[in-house]
Order: sequence, then structure tokens, then C-alpha cells
Amino acid sequence: TTQITELSVNGQSHQIEADADTPLLYILRNDLELNGPKFGCGLGECGACTVLIDGVAARSCVLPLRSVAGHDITTLEGLGSSASPGRVQQAFIDQQAAQCGYCLNGMIMTIQALLNRNPHPTEQQIRQELKYNLCRCGTHVEIMAAARQAAQ
Ligand code: FES
Repeated sequence: TTQITELSVNGQSHQIEADADTPLLYILRNDLELNGPKFGCGLGECGACTVLIDGVAARSCVLPLRSVAGHDITTLEGLGSSASPGRVQQAFIDQQAAQCGYCLNGMIMTIQALLNRNPHPTEQQIRQELKYNLCRCGTHVEIMAAARQAAQ
């Protein structure tokens, strides 16, 4: 059933009228026009839809709206802008770490979540963290270079 849910996204509060079971990804993209998070698999497996919930990485395609009310949601847009990219975003630009770019939202948000817990992770820790984020172009070498730069 449709109800009003209050969502805090990138520091702004929104009243969302939707079924409480609606995946957060749909609300972000369709209602709030935040297109950083991408729809890849829709099953929680690829990572393209990753956002931060209270600073921790989560897959928004499988997060029902009801589960995120009252939490701080951060999307790719919340990390910076084209005029003023965040640290991880800048590292991806510097390293030109994109081919098609579809996975990058998930890569960047997942690295950001790691840096939130551990500002200077090792190569092994970065690899472990990115293990379940899929990139079909095979841009892993550049993605790792960007991750290492952000972790310096
Ligand atoms: Fe959410 Fe693939 S779209 S994990």
C-alpha cells in the first residue's frame, strides 16, 4: 500500500509517496532523479546500484523503502559534483578508470565505504572489498589504480 516515507538523501529530506516495498533504487532514480546509482541485475549481485546507508555500502535494488527510513542515504551525487569531485571520484577521473562506465557508481561507492572505515587500506583489502562488484569491460587494472590513488 502507498504511504508517505521520509527519506534523507545527500543531506536533504524528502517526503516520498510510494509503496513501502518499492526498491530504494527506483525511488532514487525515478522520483529524485539521482541517476548515479544504476540498475544492473536488480538482484543484489552486480553492485551497480550501490549507495551508502549511514556510510556503509548497500545495494539499493534490493533495499525496500521501508528499511531505509530514518537513515542517512548517500548517492554518488552526494560525494561531489563535476565541478568539485570527491576524492574517490577524482581518482577515477585521474586514472581514466572507465570503459563503458556502468559499474563505476558501484566501484566508487564501495571504495568510499571502505575508506570510511579504513582511510588507508592495503591492496588486498581493496581487492577483497571490490570482489563482488562486477565490471564486464574488464577495466579492473584502471579501477585498482584509481582505488590505490584514493587510498593514499
Ligand atoms: Fe543492484 Fe545489481 S542492480 S546489485
